Amino acid sequence: MDVNAWWQTGVIYQVYPRSFQDTDGDGVGDLDGIRRRLHHLVDLGVQAIWISPIFPSPMRDFGYDVSDYCDIDPLFGRLANFDALLADAHAAGLKVILDFVPNHTSDRHPWFADSRSSPNSPKRDWYIWRDGKPGGAPPNNWESEFGGSAWTFDQVAGQYYYHAYLKEQPDLNWRNPQVQDAMCDVLRFWFDRGVDGFRVDAIHHLVEDEDERDNPANPDWRPGMPPADRWLQTRTVDQPGVHECIKLMRHVADRYGNKVMIGEAYLPIDQLMAYYGADLSGFHLPFNFHLISTDWQPRAIASLIETYEAALPQGGWPNWVLGNHDRARVASRIGPAQARVAAMLLLTLRGTPTIYQGEEIGMQDVPIPPSLVQDPFERNVPGLGLGRDPVRTPMPWTSERHAGFTEGQPWLPLNADADVLNVARQIDDPRSMLSLYRALIRLRGNEAALSVGAFRLVHVDDHVLAYERRIADQRLLIALNMTDRVQVLRPPRPACEALLSTYLDHPDPLRDDIHLRADEGLILRTLPDVA
Ligand code: NOJ
Repeated sequence: MDVNAWWQTGVIYQVYPRSFQDTDGDGVGDLDGIRRRLHHLVDLGVQAIWISPIFPSPMRDFGYDVSDYCDIDPLFGRLANFDALLADAHAAGLKVILDFVPNHTSDRHPWFADSRSSPNSPKRDWYIWRDGKPGGAPPNNWESEFGGSAWTFDQVAGQYYYHAYLKEQPDLNWRNPQVQDAMCDVLRFWFDRGVDGFRVDAIHHLVEDEDERDNPANPDWRPGMPPADRWLQTRTVDQPGVHECIKLMRHVADRYGNKVMIGEAYLPIDQLMAYYGADLSGFHLPFNFHLISTDWQPRAIASLIETYEAALPQGGWPNWVLGNHDRARVASRIGPAQARVAAMLLLTLRGTPTIYQGEEIGMQDVPIPPSLVQDPFERNVPGLGLGRDPVRTPMPWTSERHAGFTEGQPWLPLNADADVLNVARQIDDPRSMLSLYRALIRLRGNEAALSVGAFRLVHVDDHVLAYERRIADQRLLIALNMTDRVQVLRPPRPACEALLSTYLDHPDPLRDDIHLRADEGLILRTLPDVA
């Protein structure tokens, strides 16, 4: 494998297209909007954009319910707009990664219409149809991620069908080779158009237990937790057959060369590693979401990094994520001051970082009043704080009306402080979060130790996490103060140059001890080994 593949050295940026930039005044972002804002991404210094689904969809799950895999939803534009975006992105040196949703289609997909129409339909077996139990109850206890039974009875079909998510998102039957072929054709369609890779949705759900046994109860479930967590999903998630399917997808990508396949799987580290595939025949990057769920505490983070690094298969490339369109924003989880430290962590760890749109300006979750709720998860399971609207609000670009996002009525409200917390303001502020992200990405690009060097944990206590990134005789020390009090660290070898502080000022002159201000992260060059 080429050690310098673009998806290893570069930073990936997730665009949530509904909320990036609107150009036609309907209050929803579109492809021309992404195109208009490409310069923001170029200035930020990222290498690739991953765009959440843009395909025709009834939008019951905001694009994750696809009714045609090989076209663009009119809300976002047309194929011609996509081609123009792709051409402009490539001309600007940016790769484009699309979102592939193989686990389920929309219930409006023609395949599903065909499948439910008759038991004799050639596509009947493309979905998972079962009779109920005697008496009519659903076939087993499997629960939808969005609450309620994962089985819905369809009057036309006269049977239940399985859906890991909404009832409007019927699961495809990946044990059927025709499904595999049809979905691999989808990948080819977009690769032929020139896309650079895919983020593959909900891959851990792709295959279910062949014997369809009940999931066991989760003894740790408490009211207030997501309903699906009432069960340990040992029969519905991470089933052995998934890896053969991933291999098929990877095989398609490999025929094109220089592409990336990224898998979305929320799994413990040991299970996640299998998604690299035997002999790395699976995903290049099985998403590592563990920074999202780990306590923001130096020892916990150090242990996560070491466990993850140790578990990686030979040659498997790491990756790190602080947030996405499904999870609370990092600045809300740990506070704005520590979000700067988190940015330094994300961009100095070994492995590909993915930034979620808005992280680079320190966006926080936006409270959504009940009357404005859009997310079906919140609608199905209200009041538990599971809704994802707060993390999907539009990008604030300027101090103008609706922050320059739209001239219409935005589909979700903007952050209340959008007149001050916006991209334009931060561009002009040399100490802003945006300036920090730019500086970190630039430094990562300039220092091979950061982009491809080895990782070694140097120090951890209850307050500070410090590690070294090293390539040849180049050594960088990253010291992160994860408290709001001054901390002092005695480095294992003297530092000779301070490269970057999260304060974006000139740090104190170097001493034997490193003085970290409250909530400060520092990147220091340390002396090479003396021969
Ligand atoms: C994961 C996606 O990120 C999420 O937004 C979606 O609701 C589910 N998969 C279902 O596709």
